[in-house]
Amino acid sequence: MLASRIKAHWVKYGQLWLDKLDPMRTWVPLLIMTAALVGTSCSTQPVPAAPVDNAQLVLGEQIWSGSCVACHGRQGQGGRGGQLNEGRVIQRFSDPLAQIELVANGKGAMPAFSSKLTPEQIEAVVAYTRQVL
Ligand code: HEC
Repeated sequence: MLASRIKAHWVKYGQLWLDKLDPMRTWVPLLIMTAALVGTSCSTQPVPAAPVDNAQLVLGEQIWSGSCVACHGRQGQGGRGGQLNEGRVIQRFSDPLAQIELVANGKGAMPAFSSKLTPEQIEAVVAYTRQVL
C-alpha cells in the first residue's frame, strides 16, 4: 500500500521532471558543463614549460598548446600524430629547416600550417619541439 503510493509519487514526480526537460534549458547547459569539466581535466596536465627568458621558446610553447597537442599529446608523447618528444625530432630531422618545411607544408594526415601560422610562429614551435620537449 505504502510502497505503491511511494511508487505513484515517484512516477508522477518523474513525469513532472521529464516535462521540464526542455532540451535547450537542461541538456545544453549540462553538455557545456560536461565539456568544461573534461576540458579542465585535460588542461591540468601542463605542457613542458619554455624558459621564461627565451621569447622564441615562450611563443613556441603557446603555438604548441594551441595547435599541436590535440594530435601529438601535451608532452609530445604522440597520439594521432607521432611522438615528438625525448629528442625524437632531432633524430628525425638533423636539419631544423626540414622540420620547418614539414610543419609548413604538412604530410599525410599532418595538416599544413603555412596558412595558419606565420613563419616566425612555425620556427618558434619547431624550436620548442627541439629544445623543450
Ligand atoms: C590533425 C592532427 C595533427 C596536428 C594538429 C599536428 N600534427 Fe604533426 N603530425 C600528424 C601526423 C598524422 C603526422 C605523421 C605524418 C606522416 O608521416 O604521414 C605528423 C607528423 C609530424 C612531424 C614529423 C614527425 C616525424 O617523426 O616524421 C612533426 C615534426 C610534426 N608533426 C609537428 C607538428 C607541429 C609542430 C604541430 C603544431 C603546429 C603539429 N604537428 C600538429 C598530425 C598532426
